[in-house]
Amino acid sequence: MIDIAKNIATAPRRTKASVIRELLKLTNKPGVISFAGGLPDPQHFPYDFVAESVKGIMAKKGRVALQYGPTDGLPELKEEFIKFLKKHEGVTAKPENLIVTTASQQALDLVGRLFIDASDPVLVEMPSYMGGLQVFKSYGADFVGVKLEDDGVSVEMLEEKLNWLKNQGEHYKFVYLVPDFQNPSGVTLSGEKRKIVIKLSEKYNVAVIEDSPYRQIRFEGKAPDMLYRLDQDTRKTDNIISLFTFSKTFAPGLRLGVVLAHPQIIKKMEILKQSLDLCTSSLNQLIAADFLRSGFFEKHIEVIKKTYKLKKDAMVGALEKYMPDGVTWTKPEGGLFLWVRLPDNMSADDMFQEALKENVAYVIGSAFHCDGSGKNTMRLNFSYPTVDEIEEGIKRLANTVKKCMVSR
Ligand SMILES: Cc1ncc(COP(=O)(O)O)c(C=O)c1O
Repeated sequence: MIDIAKNIATAPRRTKASVIRELLKLTNKPGVISFAGGLPDPQHFPYDFVAESVKGIMAKKGRVALQYGPTDGLPELKEEFIKFLKKHEGVTAKPENLIVTTASQQALDLVGRLFIDASDPVLVEMPSYMGGLQVFKSYGADFVGVKLEDDGVSVEMLEEKLNWLKNQGEHYKFVYLVPDFQNPSGVTLSGEKRKIVIKLSEKYNVAVIEDSPYRQIRFEGKAPDMLYRLDQDTRKTDNIISLFTFSKTFAPGLRLGVVLAHPQIIKKMEILKQSLDLCTSSLNQLIAADFLRSGFFEKHIEVIKKTYKLKKDAMVGALEKYMPDGVTWTKPEGGLFLWVRLPDNMSADDMFQEALKENVAYVIGSAFHCDGSGKNTMRLNFSYPTVDEIEEGIKRLANTVKKCMVSR
């Protein structure tokens, strides 16, 4: 057997197993109520719609559905997605602005491949989406963390870091943001800050990745404009690269996403994607095109929003009822997650095993921090557990917190 440690290439050597996936193995124990995953509620997957859609596709477009397709995506899906962007986001796009991806995780990999050389600075929120950090790290990114506030990334700190990098002559590559109901924190970037981000993108001539899987799942409040749209309407830097996915609005099993960006970026991504998978599943693209064309998307998203709001309210209600003083949490207006902050002197990392003994699980907040900080934080998912499990699980979690507070 070859010496794996010596023989594998740099990128896989740099890639560490995702903490979430490792933790999830522990939380699969029977009896554990897990807030650790990030799964949509399977009760609401559109099973009947998919069955009907596949039947129709096989009757009318079987030869396309079961064949290889163009690397940048089928025109049928692009056409519907362009209409979707116009109707829901006020964004005008052409087919050459779009590439269909095997969901957002592939898009993040394409971003990494496209931009990052070893030791390149990449600016990320603290906390940030772990799957993004993992892929950028594998390409050798040197993270520059920017703190997250209740209304999104700190724009003062973002400018400070960009300025510092510029003065050092560093070739910073991009800013990675999850601006809507962020994974992990549930926080949304405010309209005011979005305008500043666009100005900074122009001033420092830096690309901004707008990774937004949860944007459509807004159950309260009004949505600020997409960064992409703000840029198109104001500065026209063409520096914004927006990532969409059908994982949270339709089904993650489809593995389907779309990138919206300047045609030159899309063209480069297309070349890179050729060596990844040739093309994304043609059948799944036709199902998604049907999903948008038939208007089922609008109906379906309402059902999801209603359920997730109910669950979010149940979780916030239970936190208010059971958590001791000194513990705080975000109250997201959409998405799948909320973020709990323990008193500064406590560690959610250390508490994890205690929580498992109480049969409840979460994801440690430090896993989402590029510098390993945030030890007193945790991410809770409310979309997957039932309302009853949420009530019972938060009760157990609060008991764990109280025990750990006393034993300190
Ligand atoms: C912020 C963010 N980006 C990307 C992804 C990847 O999702 P997918 O590959 O299913 O589209 C996720 C998944 O949870 C996410 O939260």
